[in-house]
Amino acid sequence: MKRVYNFNAGPAALPKEVLKRAQQELLDFDATGMSVMELSHRSNEYEKVHNKAATRLKELLDIPDSYDVLFMQGGASLQFSAIPMNFLPKGKIGNYSLTGSWSEKALKEAGKLGDTHIASSTKETGYMSIPSHLELSDAPAYLHITSNNTIFGTQWRSFPSLSPDVPLIADMSSDILSRPVNIEDFSIIYAGAQKNLGPSGVTVVIIKKELLEQCPENIPTMLNYRIFAKNRSLYNTPPTFSIYMLSLVLEWVAEQGGVAAIEKYNQKKAELIYETIDQSEGFYIGHAQKDARSHMNVTFNLATEELTAAFLSEASEAGFVGLAGHRMIGGCRASIYNAVPLESCEALAEFMNSFRTKYR
Ligand SMILES: Cc1ncc(COP(=O)(O)O)c(C=O)c1O
Repeated sequence: MKRVYNFNAGPAALPKEVLKRAQQELLDFDATGMSVMELSHRSNEYEKVHNKAATRLKELLDIPDSYDVLFMQGGASLQFSAIPMNFLPKGKIGNYSLTGSWSEKALKEAGKLGDTHIASSTKETGYMSIPSHLELSDAPAYLHITSNNTIFGTQWRSFPSLSPDVPLIADMSSDILSRPVNIEDFSIIYAGAQKNLGPSGVTVVIIKKELLEQCPENIPTMLNYRIFAKNRSLYNTPPTFSIYMLSLVLEWVAEQGGVAAIEKYNQKKAELIYETIDQSEGFYIGHAQKDARSHMNVTFNLATEELTAAFLSEASEAGFVGLAGHRMIGGCRASIYNAVPLESCEALAEFMNSFRTKYR
């Protein structure tokens, strides 16, 4: 069996050890005589899986008891609607910092449900950077940011500090668990699992408990954070297999030394590729401004579309998968999430250097 160098943006590479473990346990999970997918979500066996996933996440991210961990569905995209439904009442304004297409989408959904305001944006300069200042509206309901911009390859290195009455909400879909963060700086963190946490199907929400009182009664049950919290994300059938995989990925992160160790490893991987770009004498052109470079998604271009096409085609022949940029902006993108090994990045750097020697 040959495994490729997987640089997919999401769903993305999973740790090989996790896949093997899932394979081993697939037919007979924990001596139940069935797969974890076949367990009732009301069984004790599943209950253990569910609780372990939440506990492991709390431990790894050092989540205080004043926060709940929820497992929801509908992807990060449904959170774009759930947040204003729960926390954007009449008379208040949802503030958004625009750093790419995902934050634009979050803003668009909120605009259907209430009043919004763009507190900052780097759109005019092609989303190459992270905003340096914010202008909040009057009566802000919250500020929403996207901590890592999967498409443009930028990442907030430090987060805005707001007055305590303005909740900071972060879409961390593409960098959760890649570096330590101070959970108490945020009121809500959410992330679709399919980049750093596991397979698609589950969306993790970390929410300050005191906010739950504000969730209105008259919104759909499946979008109400209070109901998810009250029922420990078991109001209806949760995505049991995805949560099981999430739990295995979290166990793997702990085995790697936890989030601080993962961050160091990620830095090394990112530096390797950015150095290859920087030392290429302009052959590879990085998209993000240096101080805003993402450690998760490295975006770059080559001088012409023909050269980019040749690069992607030869890379594909050499066993590299997922290097084409997002269909909206083209170019190239290497997504180097937690489970992408250093060896894949080394192989990519080597390939980039030899491609440059051949075509410069
Ligand atoms: C930062 C960010 N937010 C939101 C989304 C949308 O996630 P989903 O497909 O889970 O709805 C993505 C998907 O790539 C993303 O990268």
